[in-house]
Amino acid sequence: MPISAATNELGHLTIGGCDTVKLAEEFGTPLWVIDEATVRQSARACLEGLSSYGDARALYAGKAFLCLTMCRLAQQMGMGLDVVSEGELYTAAKAYFPPELTYMHGNNKSQSEIDAGLAYGLNIVIDGMSEAQMVIARAAALGKRASALVRVTPGVEPDTHEHIKTGQHASKFGVPLEGVPEIVRFLTEHHNEIDLRGLHAHIGSQGQELEPFLQIIDILGDLVLDLCQEQNFVLRQLDVGGGLGITYTEEDKPAPIYTWASEIAQRVKRVFTARSLDLPQLLVEPGRSIIGTAGVTLYRAGHSKSVANNIQYLALDGGMADNPRPITYQAKYTACVANRMKDSFSENRLTLVGRYCESGDIIIREAHVRASTGDLVGIFATGAYSYSQASNYNRTPRPACVLVADGKAEIIIERENNDDLIRHDRIPKRLS
Ligand SMILES: Cc1ncc(COP(=O)(O)O)c(C=O)c1O
Repeated sequence: MPISAATNELGHLTIGGCDTVKLAEEFGTPLWVIDEATVRQSARACLEGLSSYGDARALYAGKAFLCLTMCRLAQQMGMGLDVVSEGELYTAAKAYFPPELTYMHGNNKSQSEIDAGLAYGLNIVIDGMSEAQMVIARAAALGKRASALVRVTPGVEPDTHEHIKTGQHASKFGVPLEGVPEIVRFLTEHHNEIDLRGLHAHIGSQGQELEPFLQIIDILGDLVLDLCQEQNFVLRQLDVGGGLGITYTEEDKPAPIYTWASEIAQRVKRVFTARSLDLPQLLVEPGRSIIGTAGVTLYRAGHSKSVANNIQYLALDGGMADNPRPITYQAKYTACVANRMKDSFSENRLTLVGRYCESGDIIIREAHVRASTGDLVGIFATGAYSYSQASNYNRTPRPACVLVADGKAEIIIERENNDDLIRHDRIPKRLS
């Protein structure tokens, strides 16, 4: 739940001091609600966890949820920013996000994305040899010098779903450990075009155990020692990625973000000191753990149905188009009845389904909520990877998103309308 979540005298869920029933009336449903206090608290806890390190920075991973307001919040909170596309970079640029604090990721950056990154003056996280060649060529052509990190595949797996693991052997992301000396040598030779500052690794998302996050530091420490001994390579930045999980259901028990950050900071100090290596600037890239629990999606319950095997369906007015996580990787959520918080728990199980034309469009398979037609259903922890993965499936406009704080709700992303859906449609002359 967002930290500001409460129940008011009417029995309604409030977030950021705003009655969610009123939010639904004013802004419609589905509605993404983001609690500013939760975002700020998560960011603060992360930065406090890193504070013992000295030179450390947290970069907000924009892929979790990015819009102009989120860029502003990240900047205000003293974070840098990760972007993975020209669109995310455009958003950052429009919010005047400082280029030197912006890092560009991606396993298949196009020439146009690399050019945009070079023009902006951000840091490029190089994903492989052919990309390294492209960055060098484009930097030379544009008369720029690219600040860069190399993404390493450390061969470490977090305890998470297959689709969101990234650091395992044979991952599509990064350079395998054995290939790192070659790419580092190559980039160092091209120092006129590339300022190679360091290494990066990210093992995956929604990890709960701390150990895999710490294991990559040991691996990177050994790698840096080899690079130092063999090539005199001096590591100035070490980016150990993001990936800390959040609590979606009672089964999830991730480490608190403060602990995650401070354990990482201590381990980097220990590993580098033990190898007599200078401490690099430490970077971490949390996304989900900053924005995830800040978000709640409000849906209006529509038709219900009882079918075979005692299954009770209640259909909501959104689903896989505003939150593809359940259909994509069987993500689990917790629901509430926002207009009737006090007796919304039920021993009976309700299957909350979406409104889209796929049988897999199930938001929660067995929800313990006493909800019925007309109720306002809240789904917790939808701040990360819902809006950012949303689509217009079945030609439905994407919902609005409001930021709530101190009893005020402000639109940060407008609801799309039907005109938005046909804005880019064209009819060939012969058919008109
Ligand atoms: C390179 C990189 N950094 C950071 C993140 C953020 O991960 P999370 O939102 O799990 O913290 C991701 C997520 O995929 C990523 O690919």
